[in-house]
Formats: sequence, C-alpha cells, structure tokens
Amino acid sequence: MRDERVPLRLGVLVSGRGSNLQAILDMAAKNPGASVVVVVSDRPGAFALKRVEGLGIPGVVAERGIFRNTDDFEAAICEALEKYRVDLVVLAGFMRILSPGFVRRFPRRILNIHPALLPSFPGLHAQRQALEHGVKISGCTVHFVDETLDGGPIIAQAAVPVLSNDTEETLSARILREEHRLLPETILEFVKQSR
Ligand code: GRF
Repeated sequence: MRDERVPLRLGVLVSGRGSNLQAILDMAAKNPGASVVVVVSDRPGAFALKRVEGLGIPGVVAERGIFRNTDDFEAAICEALEKYRVDLVVLAGFMRILSPGFVRRFPRRILNIHPALLPSFPGLHAQRQALEHGVKISGCTVHFVDETLDGGPIIAQAAVPVLSNDTEETLSARILREEHRLLPETILEFVKQSR
C-alpha cells in the first residue's frame, strides 16, 4: 500500500517525437497521484526531450552507441530510473527491446503502448502490417512488458476502424489519438490499483 498523498513516480522512456509523453505530462499536470520524475531517451535529438525542458523534469540521454555493450547501456538507464526512485516505467515510443535482465528488475512495473490490437501485429510497422493483412479493425494496446516482444499481459485496448482508403499515415493518426487517451488512463488505473 502506498500513501495516497505521495504521487506514483513515473519514468518515461522515449526515442522520438514524444506525443505520448506529452499526453502523460498533461495527465500528470491534472492528477496529483502521478508525477513524471525522469525522461530517458536513447536518441539525443529526440523531440520528446524538448517537451520536458523548463518543466524541472530531467531528460537523460542514454545512447546505445556510446556504450560498449547492451548491459552497460541498460545499466545507465537503470541508474537514471533508480536515481529518481521511479515506481513505474512507461515505454512511450521507445524503439529498443529491453533485455530479460532489465525486465526482471521491474517486475510488472513496465508498461508499453503498441499501435495495434495485440497479439496481432507485434514488432515494427504495426499499422503497415494491419493494412497489408486487410483487417477492418485495428487499434492500440497497453501491456506489461515481459521478456517477449510485445507479448506481455494485456491491460487495456482501444479499437479503431480501418477504412478502405486508409494509408499508413491516416491509420496511424487515428490510432495515435486513441493512444493519447488510453495510455494516460491506464497509468491512472495503475495509480488507483497501487493504493
Ligand atoms: C506510437 O505510435 C507508439 O505506439 C509507438 O511509437 C509511436 C510513438 O509516438 N510505439 P510518440 O513518440 O509517442 O509520438
């Protein structure tokens, strides 16, 4: 049980533009139960880092290429998460696969958002995979990260229609709108459950 007056401390891992990070920041600004305490990017130029500038939230860069191996790279990420005493790790467009060793350090405490209705279309280019298969419904999934690729227990999903004239861009945009709602909602649910 946690003290309700103490916010759940979120560490968000990103690689790119960070629109999901923005949705989490907006949610946390309105909810005393959740607080983003650190953002870690594996890409130094990620726009996501710009989103926390001036907010008093540290943006840490851990670039795989500057480390000798994956262990050292992941150790740097863990160090940042531990330094800021993160309770819940959120992968929000983080484009790297975390090793089983990393995942075991945060059991049931890593969430990921994936732009498809898992277990369909795991991995990269999920929206393109959906279009190529001709599915009529797709969506997004928030799941716990385990040692498999996009295969951990599903927590929440949102569905969207796939239209006959959809391109990867139009479908991605429709799914993204749902991501921005589903991920913050699921984090808030996690906050409630952990009380
Ligand atoms: C999202 O579609 C997410 O589901 C996928 O990568 C994209 C990241 O977008 N894993 P953003 O960086 O949050 O804008």
